[in-house]
Amino acid sequence: MSDEQTEQSGSIYSFGETNLAAERLRVLSEVFDPISEAFISESVRSPPQLALDLGCGPGFTTRLLSRIARPERTVGVDRSEAFLNRARASSAAREEYVAADVAVLPLQTMAIGAKPDLIYARFLASHLPEPEQVISGWAKELEAGGLLLIEEVDSISTEVAAFDEYLKIASEMLAYHGNELFIGPRLATTRWKDNLRVEVNRTSEVCPSTGQAARMFSMNLANWRHDPHVEATYTKDKVEVLTNELDGLSGFEETGRIIWRLRQISLRRHCVAI
Ligand SMILES: C[S@@+](CC[C@H](N)C(=O)[O-])C[C@H]1O[C@@H](n2cnc3c(N)ncnc32)[C@H](O)[C@@H]1O
Repeated sequence: MSDEQTEQSGSIYSFGETNLAAERLRVLSEVFDPISEAFISESVRSPPQLALDLGCGPGFTTRLLSRIARPERTVGVDRSEAFLNRARASSAAREEYVAADVAVLPLQTMAIGAKPDLIYARFLASHLPEPEQVISGWAKELEAGGLLLIEEVDSISTEVAAFDEYLKIASEMLAYHGNELFIGPRLATTRWKDNLRVEVNRTSEVCPSTGQAARMFSMNLANWRHDPHVEATYTKDKVEVLTNELDGLSGFEETGRIIWRLRQISLRRHCVAI
């Protein structure tokens, strides 16, 4: 498999690929893996031949997919070489990693040599400007009968003012770049074509501790606080105060002060028009 990127979609990923960004994804994996695990295990009824994890980051989701769906081969795909290097450094048997921009269709992963019968993407669609179109493009590359699993944020409710403030700035910044943090409701009401049948379309609640949420937000804020839109809109002091507030919450272990509603969608590709 060539690691060369031949084409770029121009889609913007604002959350960085630093060590801190990878550590944030580790905490995110700790928080969201149990609900993703349940979704994958109930959706995948028999071990696939080839599973793709699109937007795999440092490989947490790829390992999860490999462990739960038990595919013959699991390939993590991401645009970030830094994340791919981390993923490769801790990869297990039957896992491979390739570099590609997954918003370029058809997927630039021809050298994999086979069509996937399972595609999974968690927390990726909110970084794609035309997610419905891109997701439909992925689905076209599935084997007939193959499955596409998507997990994205529907909503986040919280009683913590600093969390609300962080979410406001993060969603404004993504919107400025043509992306959408709370993409779940939009995907939930999409009318999928191209022989795709919706098998699951639901939300599942995830309740991290206050500390876990604070750590994920603080690490992310450190990654995107120098985004041009954020710097033009918010003073350095404002961002500094918010960072300190988040850091002050990082040791709290109670749950219930912030709740994610995760949209889980499973689409099955059929051979004939339905
Ligand atoms: C929020 S992370 C999610 C990582 C992983 N799926 C998880 O849930 O832990 C999104 C990932 O998508 C990757 N990404 C964003 N846009 C991409 C694109 N157009 N092509 C390939 N990867 C992309 C980023 O580099 C990042 O690793």
